Amino acid sequence: MAEPTFRAPKGTRDILPPESSRRRALIDAFAVRASQAGFGEVMSPIFEDLGVFKRLGESTDVVTKEMFDFFDKGDPPQHLALRPELTASVCRAYAEHRPTPPWKVWYEGPQFRYEQPQAGRYRQFSQVGVETLGSDDPQVDVDTIVLGWRFYQSLGLSQVTLLLNSLGDASCRPAYLDALRSYLEANAENLSPQSQTTLERNPLRVLDSKRAEDQAVIAAAPLMVDFLSDETAEHFAAVRSGLDQVGVPYEISPRLVRGLDYYTRTTFEFAAEALTSAQNAVGGGGRYDGLVEALGGPSTPGIGFALGVDRILLACDAEGVFDTPAAAVKVFVVDVTESNEGLKVCEQLRAAGIGADRAYGGRSMKAQMKVADRSGAPLAAIIGDDELASGEITVRDLRGDSGQHRVSRDQLVATIQRLV
Ligand code: HAM
Repeated sequence: MAEPTFRAPKGTRDILPPESSRRRALIDAFAVRASQAGFGEVMSPIFEDLGVFKRLGESTDVVTKEMFDFFDKGDPPQHLALRPELTASVCRAYAEHRPTPPWKVWYEGPQFRYEQPQAGRYRQFSQVGVETLGSDDPQVDVDTIVLGWRFYQSLGLSQVTLLLNSLGDASCRPAYLDALRSYLEANAENLSPQSQTTLERNPLRVLDSKRAEDQAVIAAAPLMVDFLSDETAEHFAAVRSGLDQVGVPYEISPRLVRGLDYYTRTTFEFAAEALTSAQNAVGGGGRYDGLVEALGGPSTPGIGFALGVDRILLACDAEGVFDTPAAAVKVFVVDVTESNEGLKVCEQLRAAGIGADRAYGGRSMKAQMKVADRSGAPLAAIIGDDELASGEITVRDLRGDSGQHRVSRDQLVATIQRLV
């Protein structure tokens, strides 16, 4: 094949059929679960005022290094950015429209981050997620986490670990940050140069370093859980007790800090053990009780998660679960009569809700049967000159062993419904 003139941009890719139908099935399955749990779908713009995303934290990589930002053609031009995630957009929408709380929404769609692409890390990737705004009841935290957990289970994934932490809130986090900063500064000479820079911007993010030379310092660092206020500790205990009640297993991960700055109290991540550790986070989330206010809305607690569709499918591949769904085309119509019979039969089948397709270009029986085979359809409806003359159709089983049946046009739909 000749070199193509253009390729999809770095970090993006075309999702072609049949892989795309697997993705669609995953998103549809999530939609069903989220709606059944009382979430309505929110559809937000793909780009927003850059300021919306700056609220994710001026010291996070997502904001400082990874934003796809641009100016529009207005006068004066507006500084916009492709969304790197959806929580900020949902909070912006809440502040703008002021729906009645608790506001429970789910979403799906592409996100954009200018990252160094590698397996499981792309510049355009897809998420499904939920957010609940307007309640800080720990039961909301439990419901949110359980929804994510059950979704992985429903796909057949069995090697997912739920990591859980509490990051405290405005009443106790500052004291912890002071203690952490003092400790890290005292041990700075034993940190990597990168972590020394991170320390100046945000000591919490040092805990997220995966560099070997940082691990000894991180292992002995003070932990947020030891600094939680009574109220925050009680909230965290209630979340754990709810998870215990419904039998969702978790690991307390006291150094889990997540990559975005808005988190308060409950934070969690879902790690797929079947993927290599660098890119094994298949989802994550937590509380962000100050974000709506930071976006100009009323003080409103919130919690949610986003699950990475691309990585979930990689985890499904690694575990050998959640196969590509069966082809929607159930009958491939083969017509060698050069009449309009094939067209009419396709029409008849589709009108009855049966997936049907056919070949074009007046090809031979053999060529059309080949296309039928490739289509994945379990049945072929064959129209030759004989069938045309007698007003009948030959239905042939392409995959199983129910052989061949010659039926009248009137019996066609019933015969096919019996066979598929
Ligand atoms: P996040 O941890 O940045 O959180 O992303 C959630 C998930 O999206 C990750 O666990 C991962 O599966 C997937 N993901 C992130 N970046 C990439 C990438 N470059 N390529 C492929 N997959 C990726 C959030 O986005 C928060 N908005 C989650 C949340 C919702 N927190 C509260 N509500």
